[in-house]
Amino acid sequence: MLPIRKRQWLNKMPLRFSFLFLTLFLGCSDPQSAPDSGALHVEFFTTDRSGNALTHPMGGMDEHATDLWMLGKSFFHIPWVEAPSATTARDGLGPLFSANTCTTCHPNNGAAAVVDEQGAVTRALVFRLSQPSKIPDDALRMIGFVPDLVYGGQLSVNGNAKVASEGTPQVHYETIEGRYDDATPYTLSRPLYAIDALGYGPLDPQTNIAAHRAIALVGSGLIEQLSEAAILAHADADDQDRDGISGRPNYVWQEGVRVLGRFTWKAASPSLLHQSANAAHNDMGLSNPLFPFENCTSTQITCNEAPKGRHEFDLPQERLEAIAFYLGHLKAPLSKAYAHAKQARVLMDDLACTRCHVRSFETTSGVRIEPYSDFLLHDMGKELSDGHRVFEASESEFRTPPLWGVGLHVKSLLHDGRARSIEEAILWHGGEAHASRDAFKALDASGRRLLIEYLEHL
Ligand code: HEC
Ligand code: HEC
Repeated sequence: MLPIRKRQWLNKMPLRFSFLFLTLFLGCSDPQSAPDSGALHVEFFTTDRSGNALTHPMGGMDEHATDLWMLGKSFFHIPWVEAPSATTARDGLGPLFSANTCTTCHPNNGAAAVVDEQGAVTRALVFRLSQPSKIPDDALRMIGFVPDLVYGGQLSVNGNAKVASEGTPQVHYETIEGRYDDATPYTLSRPLYAIDALGYGPLDPQTNIAAHRAIALVGSGLIEQLSEAAILAHADADDQDRDGISGRPNYVWQEGVRVLGRFTWKAASPSLLHQSANAAHNDMGLSNPLFPFENCTSTQITCNEAPKGRHEFDLPQERLEAIAFYLGHLKAPLSKAYAHAKQARVLMDDLACTRCHVRSFETTSGVRIEPYSDFLLHDMGKELSDGHRVFEASESEFRTPPLWGVGLHVKSLLHDGRARSIEEAILWHGGEAHASRDAFKALDASGRRLLIEYLEHL
């Protein structure tokens, strides 16, 4: 993992705007938000629940900020092409890549389904490859993880002309039958993956394959505006309060400094700038100032020899910053009014869901948000383990995914999209969340319905 550049003026930008919003809109609450959700600032939230819900710009941006936002939006949407090409502003795709635009995996800033109508794995499911570490834990914590020597850290399902793609993922399912305490049966399906058509010889049997689905970009700018202290306040690494739940932060190394991870399934990314750069490099093969090299390992000769873009970077600093600015200035969806919201909120507390899916936070500029996450790592047990250690996250630890907007994208849930509904997602909870899951299983049908319907309104 490479050092991350300081964010310069960009860092201060959202904060300045937020103060402006605060003075202008303090106290404005939205008619559609839950009655007890207090003063939510309309400039940061939208009541739109359509397919466009995640695409709206935050309010209050001046002309310069609006231009930057539009620039970021265009680079998020454009299809990149192979170098060399006449359109140098958007060439440099690959040589190895998964998709040619961010929107393949994040359509309308959401997350695409992980399997298509024919049941084939889509590009929105990426496969992280890692080797068991032979180096000491302290060193591993600094580099993140050890990639596969031949295939690198992520499988590329596409290649440019003359560069073979790395392979084609296949999935089949194992069916698991279970019963609620009231004897109602349910069925879960566990995905089992294999990689066919390997382009560069057999995969080292020691290499771990972890499937991670795309994450919907919900309220990313507001998450970035949480202080470290606000997140760390929920950490309880040694489970001092003895409730069986012990959230821990993940820390990512950049320029020799340990910074808090808050994005991605294992909280392995500290900022939108970093994650955008990571995506550009790993998902699209675009070199950039944070990941200045091509997406090839030293053994992939045709990849190394393929034509490169004419510029130093396929995605230069100012365009990368524009993408991060765009993602940092999108409105978050407001929850839809739900007749039994009060009871459902009490039930979520009773079932200890909100020990991890923490309801409410305040950003550094005083905006109250309800993301339903603590942004910390939790051990989710053997059943959900993906075998992938990254920075300080173990094989079975995941960041609590925020649940705001979950009702907008319920088709593929959990880190590998194995859950086809909110109900299935809850039933997969294990490890630190097993007591919470068992309490859910002990509810009668109306209690289960109450909880699920409420979450669908978030
Ligand atoms: C091939 C599919 C794919 C493409 C293309 C893609 N992403 Fe993603 N995105 C993912 C996956 C998968 C994750 C989760 C990664 C993980 O946890 O390992 C993710 C996570 C993210 C996150 C973190 C969200 C959060 O709340 O944690 C951001 C931000 C993001 N992507 C931005 C981008 C940008 C910007 C681009 C284009 C430059 C892009 N992505 C292109 C698949 C993709
Ligand atoms: C110990 C912490 C913890 C508790 C308690 C907990 N969760 Fe989770 N939850 C997580 C983590 C971590 C994941 C992600 C696991 C994965 O992807 O493998 C998750 C995933 C989910 C998802 C899927 C979200 C998505 O975007 O894919 C839903 C829905 C959910 N939890 C609801 C609940 C509900 C409802 C309860 C209470 C009955 C609950 N959780 C209790 C930590 C917790």
